[in-house]
Formats: sequence, structure tokens, C-alpha cells
Amino acid sequence: MELEKGFGADFVVKGRAVEATPEKKGDDRARNLAILEEAASTCIKCRLSESRTRVVFGTGNIYTDLMFIGEGPGYEEDQQGLPFVGRAGQLLTKIIEAIELTRQDVYIANIVKCRPPDNRTPRQDEIFACTTDYLKHQIAWIRPKIICALGNVAVQNLLHTDKGISTLRGHFHDYDGIKLMPTFHPAYLLRNPGDKGKCWQDMKKVRAMLDEVKG
Ligand code: URA
Repeated sequence: MELEKGFGADFVVKGRAVEATPEKKGDDRARNLAILEEAASTCIKCRLSESRTRVVFGTGNIYTDLMFIGEGPGYEEDQQGLPFVGRAGQLLTKIIEAIELTRQDVYIANIVKCRPPDNRTPRQDEIFACTTDYLKHQIAWIRPKIICALGNVAVQNLLHTDKGISTLRGHFHDYDGIKLMPTFHPAYLLRNPGDKGKCWQDMKKVRAMLDEVKG
């Protein structure tokens, strides 16, 4: 695995910087995530690799307390190699800003890292391959205090439940010692704007919990 050493404690993988702040020197998560991203960039563990344009690994602050997890890349994300950059992404940006954060304050990833053809729901074997090899490690290295799971596919696969988002949202669940708040997927909210108020209730709880865990 080729890692080009960048400036200071940073590593650059194929031109993409994974930043490490000076006070985090000695913390090897930037390096581990860079290695994982490099591995994911050529992944052929499932059929989604056959039709993808780019692997969408995840983006944002790797030292964050708050991580958002969606379902999988759509057209725009597949083109750009970045999560949540299409219409749903614009709404997610507003949701993040509504709790007085920016996209640079949080980390954003998906259950699967490659776009399912025609935006179909990812299949269980695709989800298993991708979460086992990548997302689980990504979460473990970022170690956020809070995960916000966006929509049914994210929450059901993280919590291993078949309960729906309407039942699960509104309160925190446990994911491996991390507080997990499920809320509606922004794409659903674009189709059902009447449910934005419920999402706002969930996000206010996330904000309050963030303040609590920061002390
Ligand atoms: N929907 C998702 O679940 N993830 C993205 O990155 C974009 C849209």
C-alpha cells in the first residue's frame, strides 16, 4: 500500500488529504483511515463495484463527536466521490447547520460506498461486505460519541433490527457504546416535507447530547 507522506502529521492518498491536527500527533487514526480509504478505492468485494464510477468513502472531521450515516451514494455522489452532495445532501447540510455545526465539524459516510444501479436499495450481501470491511472499522477509528443514522437502511443495518424509522426515531439507541439517534433520511424529507418537524425534534436531542458529552 503506497502512502505518500504529506505535510506534518498528514497523509495524502491519491491527492485526498486526511487531516491530522497538531495536537492529535501520535494518534494514528488518520493513517489508519487513509489506508482503509486506499483499500476501498479499488474494492471489488461486491457487484456494486462493476457499475460504480467512484467509491464514496466518507468525508469530514475524523476527530468529530458526531457522525452521520446514510444509505449509499446516488448519481452526484458517484460522480464526485463525495457523500451527500446532491439534493438530499443540500438538505443534510441545512440540517447540520440548524444545530449550529458545519459539514467540516462532522463526519459523513454511508452504509455502502458504491452507488447501487438505478439507486436501488443495497442488497444484504452488498451491505454485509461493505460494512464488515469498511464502515465498522471507520466507525471504530473515528470513535464518534454520537451517530445519526439517516433512514431505514442505515438504522436497520446498524442496529440489526427490522423495525422502521418511524418507530425507532426520536430517542437514542446503543451502537457498540455509541449513542445512536435515528432520523428520517433527507431524501424522504424532500418527498415528505411535513415530517421535517420530527427530524428537527431529533436533531435538537442530538445537539443537547453533544453539549452533554462535551461537558
Ligand atoms: N443518499 C445517501 O444515503 N447517501 C448519499 O451520500 C447521498 C444520498
